[in-house]
Amino acid sequence: MDRGQLGGLNRLPSLDAEARLGFCQSLRTLVTAGGVSAKSRVEASEALRKAGVTAGEVDEICRVAEQLPHVQIRNRMLRSVQEMTWDSAFRALDNDRERLESELLESPDDSQLLLDDRFETPDYLKFDFHLQPGGYVGEPLAGELYHHGTQAFYMGMNEGDAIHGGLVACGQEPRTGGVERALDLATGIGQCATALKQRYPDAEVWGLDPSEPLLRYAHRRARRMGLPVRFKQAAGESTGFEDGYFDLVNSYILFHEVPFKVTEAVIGEMRRILRPGGVLNIYDFPAGDPMPPETRYMFEHDHRDNGERWSIELMESDFDGALRSAGFEITPGPRQFLVVKTWHCHKPAQPGPRDGA
Ligand SMILES: C[S@@+](CC[C@H](N)C(=O)[O-])C[C@H]1O[C@@H](n2cnc3c(N)ncnc32)[C@H](O)[C@@H]1O
Repeated sequence: MDRGQLGGLNRLPSLDAEARLGFCQSLRTLVTAGGVSAKSRVEASEALRKAGVTAGEVDEICRVAEQLPHVQIRNRMLRSVQEMTWDSAFRALDNDRERLESELLESPDDSQLLLDDRFETPDYLKFDFHLQPGGYVGEPLAGELYHHGTQAFYMGMNEGDAIHGGLVACGQEPRTGGVERALDLATGIGQCATALKQRYPDAEVWGLDPSEPLLRYAHRRARRMGLPVRFKQAAGESTGFEDGYFDLVNSYILFHEVPFKVTEAVIGEMRRILRPGGVLNIYDFPAGDPMPPETRYMFEHDHRDNGERWSIELMESDFDGALRSAGFEITPGPRQFLVVKTWHCHKPAQPGPRDGA
């Protein structure tokens, strides 16, 4: 049943389902902002300090932390909230599947939605990230499901894409020249892409992602917003764009979801498709940062229990080194909502050795 929209998101097909999802969001707020997480962190910090465990001893960190009552309560609650969130949204959408799927397939604008029926989904992507049923590629309604699930995850802070808009607003611009073409890499359901179009209304804005279901939803959503954004199905390591095509690339939370070998290939490809002087603005997990053992524990738990398959690989990699050896100059930006780190990566305006100069 069509129940209209709230904040740019289709309302779930029944009031009952909406109430269940609202409950999950409140429970998440209670766990993460209401004291359970803070208490578990303090408890873990004290116990790990007393045990003399360092951030590198991951198995020992987990052994010590997981004996602690508040850590156990937090972990159980986070897992249950995540399962209940997906279950509530999935069941509601599944009940209305026929209508929703046909709506999604209805007369796309082929000049704005460029799907590739020969695209082969890489194996690293066939996984239920954050426990989302079917992940990004195995469920035709993945886009709408992701939108509902992440709205609950952002606990009300992303109404009207406020978080995506905020990230795009703090993106750096090329040091010379303007922004005529901008790309949102790993666009998902296109929230940063539409924010880019709002920031640069005269620019040609693209969203790129390997997932067809996410792109179909992104396209429909952008059209409903009246924003002409072009969406292309491709992987970031092989985009098919010409050399130097873009002035600016935005990337929000891609790199912790792919193997590091893929990260290196994507960085090389971004260098190729940016023009000299162009900029790549990255927001992602804090790769390479030193962290106290209790913080390392929280990331480890997220990796093991919340389907963050590749996150530790990124965190323990030399991400800055990979960006620098691809020829980018890095300017660090502000920390976004506690854990997300910002890298503004400028491609030199003058050709360097990587350009055959
Ligand atoms: C955590 S989601 C982030 C989506 C979006 N940026 C957002 O704001 O919600 C990660 C996205 O990366 C995409 N992705 C995974 N591997 C990719 C690759 N090799 N190149 C480009 N995108 C990729 C996924 O399909 C998914 O949409």
